[in-house]
Amino acid sequence: MSENVKVMITEEKLTRRIQQLAQQISEDYAGKQVMLLCILKGSVFFTCELARHMTIPVTMDFMSVSSYGDGTSSSGVVRLVKDLDESIEGKDVIVIEDIIDSGRTLSYLMENLSSRRPRSISLCTLLDKPQRRTCEVKVDYVGFEIPDEFVVGFGLDYAQRYRNLPFIGILSFEEF
Ligand code: IMP
Ligand code: MG
Repeated sequence: MSENVKVMITEEKLTRRIQQLAQQISEDYAGKQVMLLCILKGSVFFTCELARHMTIPVTMDFMSVSSYGDGTSSSGVVRLVKDLDESIEGKDVIVIEDIIDSGRTLSYLMENLSSRRPRSISLCTLLDKPQRRTCEVKVDYVGFEIPDEFVVGFGLDYAQRYRNLPFIGILSFEEF
């Protein structure tokens, strides 16, 4: 079996959309300081690109959860691998995710984070696969809605590979 990646969202389109999101968030949070809460590892590229274009004061912290094995389907089990370094109590927090698929990871996470009493908490995802949703989650900012395809690149992986691709691509498997 060989793996094949076909471009779905170009680097240019990603950059343009992320700039728009950064501008919108900067307007919505005008006069405030926000904490960008990056969900490792997939959201690293997105969080950095977003932060670079924001015009309000920003802090960043990182958290790691695991819901998938090395395959392309959900295990359904969410595990907290690395917690935040700082408290979020009283802060305006934006959770930055790479992709929302079933919604399991985020519904667990948002509940966990909300119980830590931030002043406000919202959710921003680069990609959304609404067709696959089994757990409801309220999403405040979405980069792109995409169809039910397995995608890689710009932080998203398959078995930890492809994260460094500068675009979002559809991964497929071909037999010789
Ligand atoms: P959920 O809990 O099903 O919403 O899964 C969310 C997590 O699964 C994401 O943060 C990704 O790590 C992973 N994931 C879901 N869909 C894809 C995909 O198409 N490509 C790569 N990772 C994915
Ligand atoms: Mg992820």
